[in-house]
Amino acid sequence: MLVSTKEMLAKAKAGHYAVAQININNLEWTKAVLEVAQELNSPVILGVSEGAGKYMGGYKTIVGMVNGMLEELNITVPVCLHLDHGGYDACIKCIEAGFSSVMYDGSHEEIEKNIELTKEIVALAHKNNVTVEAEVGAIGGEEDGKVAMGECADPQECKKIADTGIDLLAAGIGNIHGKYPENWAGLSFETLDAIQQLTGEMPLVLHGGTGIPGDMIKKAIDLGVSKINVNTECQIAFTAEVRKYIEAGKDLEGKGFDPRKVLKPGTEAIKQTVRDKMELFGSVGKA
Ligand code: 13P
Repeated sequence: MLVSTKEMLAKAKAGHYAVAQININNLEWTKAVLEVAQELNSPVILGVSEGAGKYMGGYKTIVGMVNGMLEELNITVPVCLHLDHGGYDACIKCIEAGFSSVMYDGSHEEIEKNIELTKEIVALAHKNNVTVEAEVGAIGGEEDGKVAMGECADPQECKKIADTGIDLLAAGIGNIHGKYPENWAGLSFETLDAIQQLTGEMPLVLHGGTGIPGDMIKKAIDLGVSKINVNTECQIAFTAEVRKYIEAGKDLEGKGFDPRKVLKPGTEAIKQTVRDKMELFGSVGKA
């Protein structure tokens, strides 16, 4: 059964580790992530962006696929299905479709408007035992065609959003989606510390988990980050292995053209990436 983030992130915050949000893009991805979580006895959050939602045939299709896998693959670790960077309407659709958590991303709105809309989503979500992530300070880079420059959130604004009744908070601390540029200034631990001081028990979320050095990840967890989102790194790992398969001409040998064979090396690469992240974030054995 899908669970919200409530209990898993309270445990993570108290235990000083982070739960990985791994974004899913298709069936193979979903199965790979669930199998690794079970193998490592780790909680996990499956992230679905609006674009990936459309790609996979809609939110109800995804809920059906994930619930089916939990049962048929005997997945017993805590699994949350979470909308990533959702708009207002997408949050409502996901709550109705059976997601167990949603992110309402109002970071592009004025803070007062962000607060008002976040409160509305919280009211609806909580009636359905669904947790809510909100965002202050746009996370930089590009995701699903939405482009934003990395910025550091105002800790006072974070406190205001935290007080709307949300369950987890994403705050920009210089992180960006996708690959980090050579001249990236790194995470602002000063900002993170100030946000943590003002928001107390609230689990904090670090977006843009791809390519952040391990020591920065560890320090962020020490300062209150309980959920770290990873997407691009799995995509890069997947595609590199599929490329090798094709370039080696394996698709031309026997039944090597079977898509199950073509996608297998990529799927194994996703699995290894997820294993590495769970080890680094400290969630292994914490189911
Ligand atoms: P990356 O694609 O940089 O790993 O970021 C993922 C993310 O933050 C999803 O919200």
